[in-house]
Amino acid sequence: MSLRYQSGFGNEFATEAIPGTLPVGRNSPQRVAHGLYAEQISGTAFTMPRHANLRSWMYRIRPGSMHQRFEPMAEGAFHNRFNEVPADPNQLRWSPFPLSTTRTDFVDGLFTVAGNGSPAAMAGIGMHVYAANASMTDRFFVNADGEMLIVLQQGRLRFVTEMGVIEAAPLEIVVIPRGIRFRVELLDENARGYVAENFGHAFRIPDLGPIGSNGLANPRDFLAPVAAYEDREGDFELVNKFQGRLWRAKIGHSPCDVVGWHGNYTPYKFDLRHFNTIGSISFDHPDPSIFTVLTSPSAVPGTANMDFVIFPPRILAMQDTFRPPWFHRNIASEFMGLIHGVYDAKADGFAPGGASLHTCMTGHGPDAATFEKASNADLSKPDYIDGTMAFMFETSLVISPTAQALSAANLQTNYAECWQGLKKHFSAPV
Ligand SMILES: [Fe+2]
Repeated sequence: MSLRYQSGFGNEFATEAIPGTLPVGRNSPQRVAHGLYAEQISGTAFTMPRHANLRSWMYRIRPGSMHQRFEPMAEGAFHNRFNEVPADPNQLRWSPFPLSTTRTDFVDGLFTVAGNGSPAAMAGIGMHVYAANASMTDRFFVNADGEMLIVLQQGRLRFVTEMGVIEAAPLEIVVIPRGIRFRVELLDENARGYVAENFGHAFRIPDLGPIGSNGLANPRDFLAPVAAYEDREGDFELVNKFQGRLWRAKIGHSPCDVVGWHGNYTPYKFDLRHFNTIGSISFDHPDPSIFTVLTSPSAVPGTANMDFVIFPPRILAMQDTFRPPWFHRNIASEFMGLIHGVYDAKADGFAPGGASLHTCMTGHGPDAATFEKASNADLSKPDYIDGTMAFMFETSLVISPTAQALSAANLQTNYAECWQGLKKHFSAPV
């Protein structure tokens, strides 16, 4: 099967796997073509302004209500318990999270590292990693708590969703909206990556202000699937994440049975290499908000529930400027991961598949080795930062690590040592 996509962000897409599926001139005709059921899924309040309103109409073999009763599952490593231990103000860093050694699918392989807010409040995010080595075949997943932004770090994945199929590889991200049912197949032996579970308003691309009408993540580089359906029956399972807990229900058919759909509420993917990186061409650094790929707005204007920010390959040519990211303490909290390569603020210790967490007002920045090197660098030539891709989940609410993340074997207990070697250079003039 050759995969096709529809290009654009937030577009009013219309797609059908069988010609003549979509009704013309109305959304819910008395009888839908081919004996299908009509069903709307809304991702925003019905009365949201038109530019921010999200909803899609699906024309499907069976409606979404057809499944057995949800029963709670045993608590696992994927949860939203962000207050089990006191919030930790220390700089935290983890070596790469381990790959799966026993048979593990995408859902079973989710491990919650940190988070804030709650699904009940519809604010905040969960920060997770995943490690999987098995495809979901007779198992489907739906997240009622939030949309999922999946950052692939190792191994290609195929997302079979209600709206169609998305295949993605490391350096691509996939966003699955709240409530969309899907399963994940592995296209390689192992898969590992990161997930932001956004309890707040759905991601949008940021406004560009004086940047103009182009730049950062351009709308046409977002790819939504075309309609593709499974007409499968069997003893399947639907796992539902609801209010921080997993529930399971038996379902006798594949819920990915949508033959046609139209609307703007859809999964999508984006290749991070298509990000048009913008920065200073004189001196100093813009704030890292210049690297925002997607933003989930909060109720406070100008304050994001979450920004998804990347540190892609770029050219640093600023004069009389300390070129790596400077020391800083922010009101926002930062969870960082590395997809591949080396991050320019750290000499070592921040490895692909690992993570770091700097919460509200926690001081951080270049380590001692990076500081010395950058302070004495030759600025007459540009620095070409290549072969790297780091990212950040930046949130306005304070991030708390989970108990399991603080007791994980890959937590680097000596992380703060990287700043202890910073020398005192000050001498008062006499
Ligand atoms: Fe930072």
